[in-house]
Amino acid sequence: MFREQWGETSERGGCYSQSNRPQKEASYAGPGGGGGAREILALASEEGQGVGKARILSSLQGVVAPKLVWIKFQQEAVFTSVTPPITSGNENERLHTRPHPGGLRESLEGGVFQRLFTLRFQDTLRRCMMLAMQLLRGAVKHTGRRPQCSVKQLIPVVPGTTSTSQQLPAFRGTQSSFCANTDSDNPRVLITGGLGQLGVGLAELLRQRFGQNNVILSDIRKPSYHVYHSGPFVFADILDLKNLREIVVNNNISWLVHYSAVLSAVGENNVAVAKDVNITGLHNILDIATEHGLRVFVPSTIGAFGPSSPRDLTPDLCVQRPQTIYGVSKVHAELMGEYYHHRYGLDFRCLRYPGIISADSQPGGGTTDYAVKIFHAAVKTGSFECNLCSGTQLPMMYIDDCLRATLEVLEAPADNLASRTYNIHAMSFTPQSLTQEIQKAVPHFKTTYDVDPVLQAIADSWPMALDDSAARRDWGWKHKYDLPELVKTMLSHITVSNRRAQDF
Ligand SMILES: NC(=O)c1ccc[n+]([C@@H]2O[C@H](COP(=O)([O-])OP(=O)(O)OC[C@H]3O[C@@H](n4cnc5c(N)ncnc54)[C@H](O)[C@@H]3O)[C@@H](O)[C@H]2O)c1
Repeated sequence: MFREQWGETSERGGCYSQSNRPQKEASYAGPGGGGGAREILALASEEGQGVGKARILSSLQGVVAPKLVWIKFQQEAVFTSVTPPITSGNENERLHTRPHPGGLRESLEGGVFQRLFTLRFQDTLRRCMMLAMQLLRGAVKHTGRRPQCSVKQLIPVVPGTTSTSQQLPAFRGTQSSFCANTDSDNPRVLITGGLGQLGVGLAELLRQRFGQNNVILSDIRKPSYHVYHSGPFVFADILDLKNLREIVVNNNISWLVHYSAVLSAVGENNVAVAKDVNITGLHNILDIATEHGLRVFVPSTIGAFGPSSPRDLTPDLCVQRPQTIYGVSKVHAELMGEYYHHRYGLDFRCLRYPGIISADSQPGGGTTDYAVKIFHAAVKTGSFECNLCSGTQLPMMYIDDCLRATLEVLEAPADNLASRTYNIHAMSFTPQSLTQEIQKAVPHFKTTYDVDPVLQAIADSWPMALDDSAARRDWGWKHKYDLPELVKTMLSHITVSNRRAQDF
């Protein structure tokens, strides 16, 4: 049978046909011949085929030459099934049963084909398994109102088995009391974009409430010494889905506060980046929150409204046609979050923050940044150049109110939440009325105006005051800081921290 097979192959005119290689055949005398090995190598090099062909020949011949034993070993897995065993029979039989050189190409092709087939089969199997996993995930997402339960079964979180670099080690803080409160009933919170104006303050508030180790701050920037040593911190790029998923799983996260964003003024100068961070990043957050059954908080903004929205006492539900990429991305976030809530049962919660004013942290490039900078200027230099018109009225809030509102809405019983997106409001003022309030404490303080037309256009399209009656009714929202209280607090904080800095 072998004879027929190999013979038939040679008839097809393979490149090693009997007629064109008669003298070489004599050297294929039998296994173990050192001369055979030499011939094989000579043949291979003469054919310009390199050692590859010699390997095959040696394998077929069973040649035992020091170099070729290894070669045979290398090729065995690939060619075994196409190599006829030539270990018995007399010389004549071997001469006829040995693979004819004309059949070698066939052998080679058969072997390569088999190898390719094996690789392709393995590859196909791997792809099938990946596809099956994707389909399973998709099926879970698309069929149930509560996908997180099913997904949990697919991706079990086994405490103690997750020890990759993304799992945070025990907190590095020096105060042992920080580690004391690790109550398992408390949520485990991840804050994205936590090194901006609001994240560090929120982490502080949540850590007081849920325990130091239960709140993980994250960002793509390096934290200051103080922030690094005041609680768990991890690098998290919201555009890296796998990294995010790893952090959520390895740290058993149950609540996610999504603060990463590119704000209005910066966004208008970097539309592509704003699109990526504010839209693609949000998709990652919603997908992960849904997969793992997280409660997710995403702040929206007064910037989610536009010139066609009612500008005074803007209600929760009205026309929203913002004219900035920031506003568009925030409307998108509101709608996507609510959609995931209705479609998949995601526990999505969202507040539309006004402009937030803080003493200890710098604003990140929004249209209302002037309302922070003005206080530092009042204390340091006694004068301020404002980039908005003196009469531009916008809704504002002191940071403590904003962070407390965030905690309150996160803790509100789901049944109380008639809506998933709420306006919150505290005060509205203009640069002029703010200047007048500051002058009560710093009489020589002066504001001049150098209006930025881009920022002014944005501000002119935003509400002057929000109607937040639904938040007050549904979960008891109540602001503590009005304009006089805000000015008093800001000036006092900044004065104290400036003095401390000078003393240091
Ligand atoms: N500060 C305000 O006045 C205000 C008002 C309304 C709404 N908000 C919203 O509140 C949230 C927090 O605001 P903020 O003032 O702290 O913002 P910020 O601009 O000060 O901070 C945003 C943070 O996001 C991080 N970030 C950017 N790209 C990232 C990425 N790819 N992955 C992870 N992190 C990334 C930045 O490093 C930065 O630390 C934002 O969603 C913002 O839209 C803020």
